[in-house]
Amino acid sequence: PASLSQLVSDHLRVVPDFPEPGVLFRDITPLLADGVAFAELVEGLADHYRGRVDAVAGLESRGFILAAPLAVRLGTGMVTVRKGGKLPGPVIGVDYELEYGTARMELRPDSVVNGSRVLVIDDVLATGGTAAASIALIEQAGARVEAVCMLLELQDLGGRSVLEGRHIDSVLTV
Ligand code: PRP
Ligand code: HPA
Repeated sequence: PASLSQLVSDHLRVVPDFPEPGVLFRDITPLLADGVAFAELVEGLADHYRGRVDAVAGLESRGFILAAPLAVRLGTGMVTVRKGGKLPGPVIGVDYELEYGTARMELRPDSVVNGSRVLVIDDVLATGGTAAASIALIEQAGARVEAVCMLLELQDLGGRSVLEGRHIDSVLTV
C-alpha cells in the first residue's frame, strides 16, 4: 500500500560510498529504531499476507529482522535461509555469483513443510542473486513460494528480471 511505501521512504537513511566508494547504501536502521513505524510496517504486511501463507522465510541477516515479527503476527513459523556454513546439517545449498566472487545460501529442507505456502521476505532486492537462490532452495525442499516481499527494490540493479517474472511485492522501489 502507498502508506507503507511512504513509511519506508520517511525512515530510510541514504549513505553515499558505503560499504565501498560509489555505492549509495540504503540503511533501514532508522525504521527499525522507530517503534511506532516498525510496528506499523509489520502490521501492514501482516494485513496483506494474513491467511495466504503457512510460513515466513527470512533471508540472512536483515531479512530475519522482518520475518520474525511478521511470522509471530501471522501465527506462522519462521524459516531461516542462511549464508553458507551457518546451519547444522542436513542442508541443501545454492551458490550464486556476486559482482566479485560467489556467495552461497543454505536451507535445512526439514524446516519447511511439503506443499506449504511460504512467504519470502528480505530488506533489499538488489541484483536478485540472494532471493533467486533462496527461492530455489525453498522449492527444492518441496514448499511453494507463494509470495516474495522486499522492503526496498533497487530497480537499476535488475533483480526483478533475475527473478524471471515472479510476482514481487516491493514496499518501496527506488
Ligand atoms: C543484502 C540484502 C539482501 C541482499 C540483496 O544482504 O540484505 O539480502 O544483499 O542483494 P542481491 O539482490 O544483490 O543478492 P547482505 O549480503 O549485505 O547481508 P546482511 O543482510 O547480512 O547484511
Ligand atoms: N542497502 C542495503 N542493502 C543493500 C544495498 C543497499 O543499498 N545494496 C545491496 N544490498
